[in-house]
Amino acid sequence: MAPRFDPLRRDGGPRGGPPGVVVSGVAKSFGAPRAAFAALDRIDLTLQPASTTALVGPSGCGKSTLLRILAGLETATTGVVAIDDAGPDAMRRTGQIAVAFQDPSLLPWRSVRSNVALARKLARLPADRALVDDLIARVGLAGFEQTRPAELSGGMRQRTAIARCLATEPRLMLLDEPFGAVDELTRRRLNLELPRLWDERGTTTLLVTHSIPEAVLLSDRVLVMSARPGRIVADVVIRLPRPRTAEVTVTPEFHALVDRIGVELGFEGAAPAEREPAEVLRLPVGAQR
Ligand SMILES: Nc1ncnc2c1ncn2[C@@H]1O[C@H](COP(=O)(O)OP(=O)(O)OP(=O)(O)O)[C@@H](O)[C@H]1O
Ligand SMILES: [Mg+2]
Repeated sequence: MAPRFDPLRRDGGPRGGPPGVVVSGVAKSFGAPRAAFAALDRIDLTLQPASTTALVGPSGCGKSTLLRILAGLETATTGVVAIDDAGPDAMRRTGQIAVAFQDPSLLPWRSVRSNVALARKLARLPADRALVDDLIARVGLAGFEQTRPAELSGGMRQRTAIARCLATEPRLMLLDEPFGAVDELTRRRLNLELPRLWDERGTTTLLVTHSIPEAVLLSDRVLVMSARPGRIVADVVIRLPRPRTAEVTVTPEFHALVDRIGVELGFEGAAPAEREPAEVLRLPVGAQR
């Protein structure tokens, strides 16, 4: 019988613990070599095993491209991605890396349950109806197991995609604006509940979000990217206690971090040097970690 989903299992399950990820000197250009368009430039980053990292930056700066490279769905023009010293392709095929894209891309002829269950089938994992239904309930879709995507709202489709992402009990999760279309109330609930699931289990997570408070609430680190070509320009450490609660969002520390990331993104008026509440590693272009 397939092992039950155990949120307290810290070793990552039978397939090994959460992996570390090292990205070295990654650049990505699109188009013909002579008229190439540089989407990403000199990206170096390390994701610690079992950590959650958020990626924030202006639209078009290459966040999705970076996630696709990490998932092995796009090749870097230069540079290397090492996940536990292995390449990402084989891990994705076996469901050890799970990706939730900006657009949920569900199969329209399959129900919610069948879309979620398919992830296990494609990864050649044993079917596990109880796990699938548990995940559907956790994203607030109990009662919609038999519903097809066309009959769901955009936010419900996105939540199905999150459940599908968790269905293979991945070691590395790459989430591209996972809550973008989710309504504010549900989003707040998922912001508190889902990290518990992946924290307790020790998944390494990288998520893209346009919400700075969400980035701070969910993450151990927030990486700030610059506009084209995308580079990582700041690495902000979030030392708020875990598990994160709704209360933490009203603390001065939380607001200082949100403020600080706003400054790094260029949203706020004050010069970064005038504010020092947060632990920020501002990275000179071309010398990122
Ligand atoms: N397959 C492709 N061919 C050509 N250009 C591409 C391709 N994919 C992405 N780009 C370009 O690369 C740049 C980065 O795109 P990407 O989708 O990674 O941005 P993003 O940071 O995820 O933006 P958003 O926040 O709007 O989702 C954009 O200018 C985009 O037009
Ligand atoms: Mg994107």
